[in-house]
Amino acid sequence: TYVVTENCIKCKYTDCVEVCPVDCFYEGKNMLVINPDECIDCGVCVPECPAEAIFPDNDPAATEHWLNVNQKYSEVWPNITAKKDPMPDADAQNGQPDKAADLSP
Ligand code: SF4
Ligand code: F3S
Repeated sequence: TYVVTENCIKCKYTDCVEVCPVDCFYEGKNMLVINPDECIDCGVCVPECPAEAIFPDNDPAATEHWLNVNQKYSEVWPNITAKKDPMPDADAQNGQPDKAADLSP
């Protein structure tokens, strides 16, 4: 599976959802996640993300923590298939460190 990681938080650009062939993105208040049981590992979402927040699960950035976040929240957050406006401070938040604790479930 592919995994959405920390830098999506408070950016949520949503470009990723437009290209996913199986519509497996799910939306929280300030982050999206991928349902690992639905992702077909095509990788097309990776270059679409302006925050470079999406990684394959064999990448060191796809830690156990982020795998768990994607698994857990994709079961409860609603599906998202159409792009919407990014979060208001997205460009300022892009690349900021230590956003993990800011995840809003
Ligand atoms: Fe969707 Fe492909 Fe990205 Fe998986 S890797 S979330 S199937 S676009
Ligand atoms: Fe997040 Fe990147 Fe998609 S910031 S919403 S993973 S385009």
